[in-house]
Amino acid sequence: MRRPILIANWKMYTRASDAQILATTVRNGVAPIEGVEIVLCPPVIWLSEILSVVGRGGRIELGVQNMFFEPEGAYTGEISPLMVRDLAKYAIIGHSERREFFGEKDFDVNEKVISALKAGLVPVICIGEKKREKLPHEPLRQLKEALMHVPKKSFGDIVVAYEPIWAIGTGENADPEYVAKVIHYLREVGLNETPVLYGGSVNSKNVADYGKRPEIDGLLVGGASLRAGEFINICKSWSKSKSLK
Ligand code: PGA
Repeated sequence: MRRPILIANWKMYTRASDAQILATTVRNGVAPIEGVEIVLCPPVIWLSEILSVVGRGGRIELGVQNMFFEPEGAYTGEISPLMVRDLAKYAIIGHSERREFFGEKDFDVNEKVISALKAGLVPVICIGEKKREKLPHEPLRQLKEALMHVPKKSFGDIVVAYEPIWAIGTGENADPEYVAKVIHYLREVGLNETPVLYGGSVNSKNVADYGKRPEIDGLLVGGASLRAGEFINICKSWSKSKSLK
């Protein structure tokens, strides 16, 4: 059985005090919620502070929004998977904003996936197409590239996030039926054990529609995760739909 997961991607938002308040409010709000893994990915500079808010082995896990693939070295400004591992469990890799603004290529994404697995982190591989299509081929192509040289036995240790770029931050969330169809198609590469998430303009109003689809194991939430009440409601709704199964 694949585990339900909700990931909050705070992107490059929050100052120190907002981050602390947001994490504390979310921690308190999700405390009674069961059956869903909840992951916060704050800006990396707040990670250890947020860890002291949520605690190790608590209701909330932590993740980073990016990392470098080398374990150490003279790479000014970069963060190694070994450093991440001390504080977090997940690493978002290949987010479309990394690909667009920082020139990350499929090759880099693949290196990072391999290196995250080696470090014992769970890579969250982001894939998605730029324009609306009937059945896009680009996400499957990106996924195959990201998984090059990754043995099938590791597929249970990764997470895939299908995020159509046209749906990210636009308010134009993708139709759940369409998402389910794409995810079904992506699973062809052998993702039976891999949680596959959807991301793109998810909020507390549309979350239940995704929760009804058994193909969708979780969500990667951007904008709505910056509002504590909104994110807590998303978590509640997901736990309600997924715990019925
Ligand atoms: P959004 O972002 O929820 O603001 O659309 C999702 C993401 O980029 O991960």
